[in-house]
Amino acid sequence: MNKHFVFTVIVALLFAFIGCSGPTNTSTTEHKPPVDTDLQLGKEIALATKAVLGKHLTHAIQTKGTAGAVDFCSLQAISLTDSVGFVKHAKVSRLSDLPRNPNNFASEPFLSQISTYKTQLLNGDKLNGNSILHEGKEYRCYPIVTNGMCLQCHGKKGTDIAPETLKVLNEKYPNDLATGYSANQLRGIWVVQMN
Ligand code: HEC
Repeated sequence: MNKHFVFTVIVALLFAFIGCSGPTNTSTTEHKPPVDTDLQLGKEIALATKAVLGKHLTHAIQTKGTAGAVDFCSLQAISLTDSVGFVKHAKVSRLSDLPRNPNNFASEPFLSQISTYKTQLLNGDKLNGNSILHEGKEYRCYPIVTNGMCLQCHGKKGTDIAPETLKVLNEKYPNDLATGYSANQLRGIWVVQMN
């Protein structure tokens, strides 16, 4: 085997490699839907955070009773290691038009998103995640809808909310707007800030 032949084979193999992996990439990028993938990631983060929160809240209600569990419907109740948003480097919050904690008050453009979801829920439409670009940052929003369990603390005073729970809520949240809900109403939104 002469050197010339070996060289030719190597060059041919190199071309074969480049030929395999080279030009295919360029055409696929146009078809990739970046918004959808991000919405999916944001949804996973919101759902996983919801699951951790729900688990802690349910456990607290079972062990401490509803009045004793009041501190557990808070993202602060989730430790950093439990927080999926922390792992994925996204910032997760919950906002409402009628917040219990004034820090969770939704301003624009999130307030409009809430009213859109409220209308959709009333019309029986599907509530989809949405991307919002606000002051140069990317946010993903998802609906938070009440179920029967929530009413122990977010339902009607006097009927759904027990007097001892109401007492704790009034002490901690003198400006509480988050009562009077029934099941299957829009309580607020998950807001995931993507990095
Ligand atoms: C044991 C009482 C309790 C239960 C049950 C409860 N919450 Fe809460 N919820 C609270 C408290 C207290 C806060 C305020 C937390 C804070 O200070 O950040 C809150 C805050 C929230 C917020 C943030 C906006 C705001 O009002 O400040 C949302 C959204 C929310 N709750 C939804 C729900 C949903 C949905 C359920 C049922 C799946 C539920 N909560 C069940 C006590 C409760």
